[in-house]
Amino acid sequence: MARSGTDVLVIGGGIIGLGVAWRSAQRGLAVTVVDPAHGGGAAQVAAGMLAPVTELQYGEEPLLRLGMASNERYAAFAAELSALTGLDTGYRQTGTLAVALDSDDRAELRELHAFHQRLGLDSHWLTGRECRKLEPMLAPGVRGGLHVTDDHQVDGRRLSGALVRACELAGAQLHRAEATELLVEDGRATGVRLSTGETLHAERIVLAAGSRSHLLPGLPEGVLPPIRPVKGQVLRLHMPDALLAVQGGTPFLSRNVRAVVRGQHIYLVPRADGELVIGATTEEQGYDTTVTAGGVYELLRDAHELVPGLTELPLVETNAGLRPGSPDNAPLLGPTALPGLVAATGHYRNGVLLTPVTGDLLAEYLATGVTPELAVPFSPSRFGTKVPA
Ligand code: GLY
Repeated sequence: MARSGTDVLVIGGGIIGLGVAWRSAQRGLAVTVVDPAHGGGAAQVAAGMLAPVTELQYGEEPLLRLGMASNERYAAFAAELSALTGLDTGYRQTGTLAVALDSDDRAELRELHAFHQRLGLDSHWLTGRECRKLEPMLAPGVRGGLHVTDDHQVDGRRLSGALVRACELAGAQLHRAEATELLVEDGRATGVRLSTGETLHAERIVLAAGSRSHLLPGLPEGVLPPIRPVKGQVLRLHMPDALLAVQGGTPFLSRNVRAVVRGQHIYLVPRADGELVIGATTEEQGYDTTVTAGGVYELLRDAHELVPGLTELPLVETNAGLRPGSPDNAPLLGPTALPGLVAATGHYRNGVLLTPVTGDLLAEYLATGVTPELAVPFSPSRFGTKVPA
């Protein structure tokens, strides 16, 4: 059955697709989002650390600007979502402490601090003693750290739920089905075929299917670069004394804590409701989300070096998600070489952070046809992709 076209058809109802759909619907566009389970995807696993500064890598300054722009929007974005839906997103302005466990780590963090200073970022060097004053549960061996006061956190699961509701309230159609084929007519993307046998048509198709974006049947070769799945295993513990802070006592952890242990990033994200998320492995082995004994062991071993007392806490959940990594680890935002097809994918380690800015930039493009300045460095055509004749 053919259905009449909408303005914008979003393939993928994870937080990126929902954010684009919500902002587009708010601008008066008729939007449909297709996904077998809206609000699923990597945000169900992610720890939700909003870390443009502490996750900064050398040579990624354009990504830093995008991340900072999104981080600056987060408080208002979360407040607007909560006011509209009545749902809490778990956004908390906690700041982040990145610590060093040995002198090599400390030298590396010192370099990162110098880089932050050159870029004028808010990042403060603390001695080991000062770190433990902020977070008394840290290991006595912590040698120093960086206090980054503007890297905060949000709860990806709550955020997904709020975005689903916000889309519904804004009038976006959430269509439960899998997109099985991109429909291309006369060199233009015009719609999708669905697992239900239906076809949907729209003026613009937004591909927001995470690490499976480039696999959509019907997508002409060369339009999108490969998006690689990068597995992250994550643990969820429970801190029984989470309410102590409210009662004037010392909470188990008050802010995001992270370190690089034996070359692996480890981070601990304590939520107000007592959840303590420990992440994450970085594994490139295809579309596999198995939780392995080795992954859990390494996360617990490294987290225990940082915060020895956590082995007393109940382990509530283990799971794994897939980060969508583009060839340069930066997102693909905006029109592709295939007319009618727009990309919002490849957010790699930054999907939760970049949700607000991605929604705003893509909605701006979809409503006006003009690519906003901030999105220009992230054009999908930067890889030289083209539609073959
Ligand atoms: N941004 C954290 C991660 O990808 O593990």
